[in-house]
Amino acid sequence: MSGIWVRLAALAEFGPSRKLVRAAAGEEILLCRSQGQVFALSNVCTHLGQPLAAGRLMSGQIHCPYHGACFDIRTGTALSGPAVAPLRYFPVELRDGEVFVRI
Ligand code: FES
Repeated sequence: MSGIWVRLAALAEFGPSRKLVRAAAGEEILLCRSQGQVFALSNVCTHLGQPLAAGRLMSGQIHCPYHGACFDIRTGTALSGPAVAPLRYFPVELRDGEVFVRI
């Protein structure tokens, strides 16, 4: 497997929105906390390239705040339009309360 593991956050940094945005390797990465796990996705919507971070996170899905596209946070799959292409996603490991993402 290629890529390097980068520490991007601590679990304690997540607030009530359960989302954090971090920059790594030239990418804006959206971290979503859901049911005790953390998922890492591109923060750039595949519809018109707007940031997803202000979108609603609910039931394992992130909703783009601009035109309502919906993505599965576990896989990046586009579940409803207008986006069709999946979001890029990154493997995550939790180590002693720290969030590591493979970039
Ligand atoms: S930019 Fe996200 S749905 Fe249009």
